[in-house]
This record gives sequence, C-alpha cells and structure tokens, in this order.
Amino acid sequence: MQRSPEPELMNAPDQVIAYSDADFSCGDHSLIERLSQLMEQALPVLPEAALILDLGCGPGNISERLAVRWPLSNVIGLDGASSMIEIANQRLSDVCPAIKNLSYLLVDLSQCCLGDIPQINGASVIVSNSLLHHLHNPQMLWTSVKQLAEPNALILHRDLRRPSNDQEVDALCAHYVSHAPTVLQRDFRASLFAAFTTDEVRDQLDQAGLGHFTVTEIDDRYLEVCGQM
Ligand SMILES: C[S@@+](CC[C@H](N)C(=O)[O-])C[C@H]1O[C@@H](n2cnc3c(N)ncnc32)[C@H](O)[C@@H]1O
Repeated sequence: MQRSPEPELMNAPDQVIAYSDADFSCGDHSLIERLSQLMEQALPVLPEAALILDLGCGPGNISERLAVRWPLSNVIGLDGASSMIEIANQRLSDVCPAIKNLSYLLVDLSQCCLGDIPQINGASVIVSNSLLHHLHNPQMLWTSVKQLAEPNALILHRDLRRPSNDQEVDALCAHYVSHAPTVLQRDFRASLFAAFTTDEVRDQLDQAGLGHFTVTEIDDRYLEVCGQM
C-alpha cells in the first residue's frame, strides 16, 4: 500500500484537545518500561542532570513520565506545534507542579537549525513516540538524532507501521478506535496510511549511517527503533 503523508504538525484545536484528553497510559507506560530495560544494559548509571529529549512530545504525556522516572535528569520535550507546547506547559503547571526537571521548547525539526539551540545538544537519551510517521522527510528525524545525541547516547523511537492494504487498516481501526472520539478515529486512520514499513525504516537508517540500530515489529501495529550512538 502506498504511503499517504498527513500534515506534520498537530495544531488544529480539536486535534490538540482530543489528543490531550485521550488515555494513552498503557502505551506510555510500556515505552517507559522498555526504556528502563534498555538503560539497564546500555546506560546503567545516568549522570546527574543528563539530558533526555522527547522529540514530538505533543501534550507532554511521555515527557512527564520520563521526568518522574528519572528525577535527577533534565528532560526537555520538543514539539513544532505551538498549541501542543501550550497544553504541555499548562499541564505541567496545573496538574504536575511537583515536577521540576521538565521543560518544553517549541521547535519544528523540519525547519530549525538545531545547532543554534545549545540547551538541547549533547543528549544522553533521545526518545520519540508517534513522531516519525508525521514527517514528510523522515531523514529529518535521523539527522536530528545525530546532531543532538552525545557519543553513546541511547535512542528509542516507537511508531505505527503501515499495514499492507486497506482491509488491514479497517480491521485495526475497528479493533482499536471504534469507540474513540471522531477526531481520534480520523487521525488514527490517517496515521496508519502515513506510517512507514519496517523495511522503509531500515533503509532510512542505512542512509543515515545508523544501520546498526535495530528495527523490531511490536504486536499488530507498532515498530520500535533502538540503538546506541
Ligand atoms: C501523534 S503526536 C505524538 C505525541 C506524543 N509523542 C505521544 O506519543 O503522545 C505527534 C507529535 O509530533 C509533532 N510533530 C510533527 N512533526 C514535527 C516536527 N517537524 N517537529 C516537531 N514536532 C513535530 C506534532 O505536532 C505532534 O504533537
């Protein structure tokens, strides 16, 4: 099935509210557990104030968990959508004011010169969830990772993978979002069409000189990319 990209940034008010109100706790929890497991092997001692970046952080649901799980680190969530960063900052001050090691930056990875933002360079850990499929040029993600990571940094990305045909898309939508708000149903379908296949992601990584990263299919709809710089 051909890839059909969706808009990169999630700035539409209905989208931002629906996304921020949705309960993604199960997937978010599993991402943090997976990262903990990888860190035990690759980075057992995370230096104090180590920089953890959450690229395409949306409303901050994963950034918040990163900051709580690694309280001595410095977590920065980046997103190119001003409405998402606004909601993320609002949640931080209203819902979790006790979190002191988290901040957000409005950064569009496709437009920005990342080298000009010193506070996000030299990351020990870089995470993204559901970002890659938004990018019109997926090399943006891998270029950003290479630019922002310090040597030995741990990288973990998770995203949807593109089904083979329309029937598979229909089946996944029926299974996972049939009771969700209409906006989320629409976005989930669009995201499945916009997602990359495992082979495409492997090609992207080879092109980026990150061919040593592993790409693994997870259950019926995700793929995971992980590796160390
Ligand atoms: C599907 S949401 C994922 C949010 C969050 N990571 C999560 O898992 O719940 C994708 C996010 O990536 C952001 N995004 C898309 N393209 C981007 C870009 N070029 N630069 C920065 N953020 C981007 C969107 O604005 C949106 O907030």
